[in-house]
Amino acid sequence: MKILGIDTSCDETAAAIVEDGREIISNVVASQVKAHQEYGGVVPELASRKHIEAINYIVNKALKEADTTFADIDAIAVTNRPGLIGALLVGVAAAKSLAYCHNLPLLGINHIEGHIYANYMVHETLTFPHICLTVSGGHTLLVEVYEGWKYKVLGTTQDDAAGEVYDKVSKYLGLGFPGGRIIDELAQKGDPKAIDFPRPMLRSGDYQFSFSGIKTSVRYFVEKAERDDKITHGEIAIEDIAASFQAAVVEVLVAKTVHAARTTDARTITLTGGVAANSHLRSSLKSAAIDIGAEVYYPPINLCTDNGAMIAGIAYEKYQQGLRDELSLNAAANGSIVDV
Ligand code: KG4
Ligand code: ZN
Repeated sequence: MKILGIDTSCDETAAAIVEDGREIISNVVASQVKAHQEYGGVVPELASRKHIEAINYIVNKALKEADTTFADIDAIAVTNRPGLIGALLVGVAAAKSLAYCHNLPLLGINHIEGHIYANYMVHETLTFPHICLTVSGGHTLLVEVYEGWKYKVLGTTQDDAAGEVYDKVSKYLGLGFPGGRIIDELAQKGDPKAIDFPRPMLRSGDYQFSFSGIKTSVRYFVEKAERDDKITHGEIAIEDIAASFQAAVVEVLVAKTVHAARTTDARTITLTGGVAANSHLRSSLKSAAIDIGAEVYYPPINLCTDNGAMIAGIAYEKYQQGLRDELSLNAAANGSIVDV
């Protein structure tokens, strides 16, 4: 069964053709990064307009790269929640029109379920239940994943998402957008112990996260260092700020994820979302998991960040479970995944 998956939840216009959930035939992504760069973050209104410009081209490109036509497609899946409402609406409108014109079943998909599914597409040995940490520009979510794609949400962020604080810290340091990869690379040259940034909720005993305190702390630190000319005079290295900030974020993410695996007896941990590309997060989680006899999986970078393949993938499972949406399907800015 071939599914066309569309995602326009944030700043990437994405479409993919996936067969039977796991076989990625094409996976096309148009990034809007350049358009948002001068603003230092995603501008929702601009994102919507860029999606409108790109969506038809990207869908056609996905079909072309898969060497196929709509005659060969069995269903259309689209992210309809959560995300930027204007951005989501473009994908939903496109998917509804195509489903109507080609008389195909329509499936509205939760973006986070797509991220969670990404690991399953590439790791054949992935077992259930497992613990999944989704960390992206918009989300930080710790979930227990059961057979049949049922979930128990263990915890989420009380304020900013992990990727969001990477982007903000990069902005404070004047390093550009998106900040995750820039900070990641810079941090490799710095001392993670140089500055003791806070680790909010590290010992809260639950699975909730909070990152705005780290963000504010870095901001005050950078502002003061700049006032005192310590950065320009080389007394404080931005590599050390990057490494110390990253150490704080990663320590909290790893501690809570490993605690969840230990408590639930899950032997597998999956990492997904844009921040799953982070080298320190990957290596720290791997070594912490070894201590409790658990394995860590993460997808290749193009499946970590937003893409249409993960949407078409989870849609296949949902189709088997009987999901069909009407043409009245709407977009929603919020929409957590449903607990079992
Ligand atoms: O999943 P994604 O493409 O979009 C959302 O659904 O939000 O994630 C984008 C986020 C951005 O905040 C970006 O800075 C972050 O992922 N990111 C990283 C790295 N690469 C991308 N964060 C930390 N380290 C990285 N290497
Ligand atoms: Zn995402």
